[in-house]
Amino acid sequence: MTRNIVILGCNGFIGSHLAQRIIETTDWHIQALDIANHNLTSLLDHERFHFTLGDITKSHEWLDRHIPLADVVLPLAAIANPLVYVQDPIRVFELDFEANLDIVKRCLKHNTRIVFPSTSEVYGMATDSEFDEQNTHFVLGPIHKERWIYSCSKQMLDRIIYAYGKHHQLPYTLFRPFNWIGPRLDNVFEKNANQSRVVSKFLSQIVRGENIELVDGGQQRRCFTYIDDGIDALMKIIENNNGCADQEIFNIGNPNNDFSIAELAENILSLAKHYPKYLDKAEQVKITHTSAAQHYGAGYQDVSARVPAVHNAQQKLGWTPKVDMQSALQQTLDYYLQ
Ligand code: UGA
Repeated sequence: MTRNIVILGCNGFIGSHLAQRIIETTDWHIQALDIANHNLTSLLDHERFHFTLGDITKSHEWLDRHIPLADVVLPLAAIANPLVYVQDPIRVFELDFEANLDIVKRCLKHNTRIVFPSTSEVYGMATDSEFDEQNTHFVLGPIHKERWIYSCSKQMLDRIIYAYGKHHQLPYTLFRPFNWIGPRLDNVFEKNANQSRVVSKFLSQIVRGENIELVDGGQQRRCFTYIDDGIDALMKIIENNNGCADQEIFNIGNPNNDFSIAELAENILSLAKHYPKYLDKAEQVKITHTSAAQHYGAGYQDVSARVPAVHNAQQKLGWTPKVDMQSALQQTLDYYLQ
């Protein structure tokens, strides 16, 4: 069945990979909105890809026109960078919460299906050995730990979408990415790349020959998920065969790629030395230490471990992550360094 997919924030990491997969493997049409399009250049001339340059908070006419016609809306425009949570929490609230609430309400008004990006961060500092969508309690720190504004904004939207679904028949699926990595995660060659998420941040330091810094010892762990695995799951969610994703919440992560940040740093640095163009720079890089207060400021608090339970996605979607850490990093480094 041909479908109309609306992707807001399409130029971002997830949006650009999703759009590419849809155009390459389906006959669906995409209406895309973003404030930039540098990650979409290969799609811009495609007859089923319709791009409009615009800000979701200002493009009212565009949203009025396209949301009623869409089969599925994916609102992917958000700030997802911990340094910004602590440095500019209100901007995170305004975009991630307020602007996206407007999109949720528009979907409700037209009874349009919404596939919404929740986040692994909603679980906060929960201590369960794996985070389960239906059982794990969300644990956030005190208000002066501003890092949690992102988690809290996303959690509130999860709750609103769930309630609109249950009481007002909004068709929805929530998905929770766990540290998705891959090409285009962030631009590692940009001046402000040192503000980006950990894999791109370490890469940006290597390409400059600057030292990598482990925050508070680097023993904190993350499960890294390759973008292609994430997109496989999203495609199954959008397809929604027999309603398998209706009113569901899915962790989308790879529990087998569970590494400490110190292990990640060593791994990326040794892989980078295989790219002749960056060998000299990589040889200069040392793995050093810093404190969270120094690196992020007093408003930061960290998650020590974060493993997704993926049985819901396995059972309902028939999805399982396939790409191991070595291949995920290899493919990411090939994109940036080759
Ligand atoms: C991220 C972001 O909040 C979102 O992108 C997203 O919602 C979520 O995780 C996810 O993808 O699941 P986090 O994993 O804490 O949160 O963010 P990173 O910036 O990638 O940091 C990971 C770890 O590396 C943290 O413990 C951080 O302290 C550490 N780190 C970061 C360093 O040791 N050194 C650095 O230079 C940067």
